[in-house]
Amino acid sequence: MNSRLAIPLLIGILAPALSGEIRYVTAKKLWRLEAGPVSYVVGVNERNELQHVYWGKRLGSDDDLAAARSNPEWASFDNSVNTTPEEFPGWGGGRYTEPCLKVTLPNGVRDLALKYSSYRIEGDTLRIELKDVSYDLGVTLVYRVFPETGIIRKHAVIANRTGGAVTLESAQSGAWNLPRGEGYRLTYLSGRWAGEWQIDQEPIHPGMKIVESRRGNTGHQANPWFAIDEGGRADESQGRVWFGALGWSGNWRFSIEQTAHQQVRVTGGFNPFDFSYPLAAGETLETPPFYAGYTEGGFGEASRLMHRFERTEILPGGAASRARPVLYNSWEATEFAVDEPGQKALAEKAAKLGAERFVMDDGWFGARNSDHAGLGDWTVNRAKFPNGLRPLIEYVNQLGMDFGIWVEPEMVNPDSDLYRQHPDWAMHFPDRPRTEARNQLVLNMARNDVKEYIFGALDRLFSENPGIAFVKWDMNRNFSEPGWPEEPPAEQKKIWVAYTRNVYELIDRLRAKHPKLEIEACSGGGGRVDLGILTRVEEVWTSDNTDAFDRLRIQEGFSYAHTPKIMMAWVTDVPNFNGRTTPLQYRFLTAMTGSLGIGGNLNKWSAADMTLAGRMVELYKSIRQTVQAGRLYRLFSPQSGGFSASEYVAEDGRQAVLFAFRSAQHFGYPPPTVRLSGLDEQATYRVRAIDDKFVERLPAASGAYLMNHGVNLRLGGDFDSTALVLERVP
Ligand code: GLA
Repeated sequence: MNSRLAIPLLIGILAPALSGEIRYVTAKKLWRLEAGPVSYVVGVNERNELQHVYWGKRLGSDDDLAAARSNPEWASFDNSVNTTPEEFPGWGGGRYTEPCLKVTLPNGVRDLALKYSSYRIEGDTLRIELKDVSYDLGVTLVYRVFPETGIIRKHAVIANRTGGAVTLESAQSGAWNLPRGEGYRLTYLSGRWAGEWQIDQEPIHPGMKIVESRRGNTGHQANPWFAIDEGGRADESQGRVWFGALGWSGNWRFSIEQTAHQQVRVTGGFNPFDFSYPLAAGETLETPPFYAGYTEGGFGEASRLMHRFERTEILPGGAASRARPVLYNSWEATEFAVDEPGQKALAEKAAKLGAERFVMDDGWFGARNSDHAGLGDWTVNRAKFPNGLRPLIEYVNQLGMDFGIWVEPEMVNPDSDLYRQHPDWAMHFPDRPRTEARNQLVLNMARNDVKEYIFGALDRLFSENPGIAFVKWDMNRNFSEPGWPEEPPAEQKKIWVAYTRNVYELIDRLRAKHPKLEIEACSGGGGRVDLGILTRVEEVWTSDNTDAFDRLRIQEGFSYAHTPKIMMAWVTDVPNFNGRTTPLQYRFLTAMTGSLGIGGNLNKWSAADMTLAGRMVELYKSIRQTVQAGRLYRLFSPQSGGFSASEYVAEDGRQAVLFAFRSAQHFGYPPPTVRLSGLDEQATYRVRAIDDKFVERLPAASGAYLMNHGVNLRLGGDFDSTALVLERVP
């Protein structure tokens, strides 16, 4: 069976077109998944088990691959299943490595032996059926190839056809096996509130490294993304990198494992911690999508592939979706003290700067005058907005902006009408204390009545105010006491999966009913950013830390895994919450490397600030397509010292933008020459400097000059910054 996808590849300017194809090689019992520049091969071995064969650069189509054969046992202590790279190991039969599926079968049997049973190829999708040797417990492994980026998606559907009750104790989306090797290095993203997206690198040693969330949502502490390079030899511009990301906004886990036999693999899916998922006869469970890719172009190319993939395959609207508008957000200016005249005054100033969207943050509903009350009561506070929201929305629209609003639908303050009416709706265990965080409890969104209530409240808000074009959907704490006492005890742990599923359903239904609505995912900053939520929101709030200096690092880490298009970045006031003061241009240029927003108190901005801000917004509009949908080159990292620079090249190559920051300087020590990347050596580029810091002052230069000779920038004192815009001469 053969299926060819004639999807052209566009990576870099001159990349050859590579197609996608999934092919079964009957004589060898191999499936060859050709995803553009990448090949991925699995096969059935002599024991009828599904075995991983190859993942890396695309192979020649005539290459004669050997059929899958298991590896021999290693003494009596490691039988062959421990030495063989299995594609989806079920736990049983003396396996000691991380399983993809662990179950208790009817009659208490806790042993699985998954064997190949059948397959189906439909276009870009392959389905392989596995089945236990004696019980009718089935696993469908679903693979999809994305030839433009070489990314492959996998997930599993576990079906209980045994006729009895089965309990799943671990259900993973899949395992990514690397070629047997030595000295692999893991790169991952860790963090905390206001310090998300920190880049961590460490050698992979025998044993297991766990990167996970046990918090009910994606989490600030780690992001479900990984990259692995060989021998630590990859850098920004070259080297083999295998990378991947999970699409799940609830408890997730990656185990990065090196077995005693030098097999490195990343297993990921639902976090097995406190996991128990009963499947009644006939029921199925689908695991989250797990995406992964491969490149020889180092971390820079791995990121560019992820960016392109997110933009074209993950985000709502795909490649055709519009550029993100410049927004103004009221939070840091007014916090909870929002009212109609105050918001109108801010809106007037935001419009003068060229903002295209005005977002009123927290404080507009219920008895919400601080974080002690009001969550759950999604009705307009009439003391602050005596005539409802419409007068403000209309005013904002007249100023030429659309209107957005903040909600935190999954939460309840004990001091709210909702909690007084339905204390049982908050997640809890009976007769146990309820742990508050920011004075709030988590609603049990796994309950359908709670989900329907919240749907009704939000649907009413959007229906009564059709001018609401945008919602910032927040989640300001993690789970505690994750009880679901209304369910039978054996079913209660399903809360971990059902909660996230219901949040997804809520968003999907609200979007379907209010198709013009755009959404920003937020969880106290970047606590809910993953490829699951990103299929249903246009952008994310990157971090509550808006200090520009900290942000350079935070945003660089973010860019490893996610596209700058969705990376909402505000310009806020100084001194920032950490006491640091940086110049307005530095703050603007930092925010302009993502999706620009303004979050300062404009009432306090001077005339000079307003003029500079107006110019910066105008500049941003002229480069945003390049920043949001271009190819990012991280030229100098903010991790390494006082100087950092990044460059964005438009997909069509017509524009490039260089941002440079001098955050600290040693006296008399000039910044390094910046050699650009990703340009056409033969082409000429007009150079537009935003100020007088471009030392060579050339009005135009060739791609060869810019990439080899490079540019010098006169960046002196602390927190100095500049930008160059290059326009290709046709
Ligand atoms: C969270 C968000 C902030 C702001 C506040 C409002 O912390 O990340 O941007 O919306 O909530 O309470």
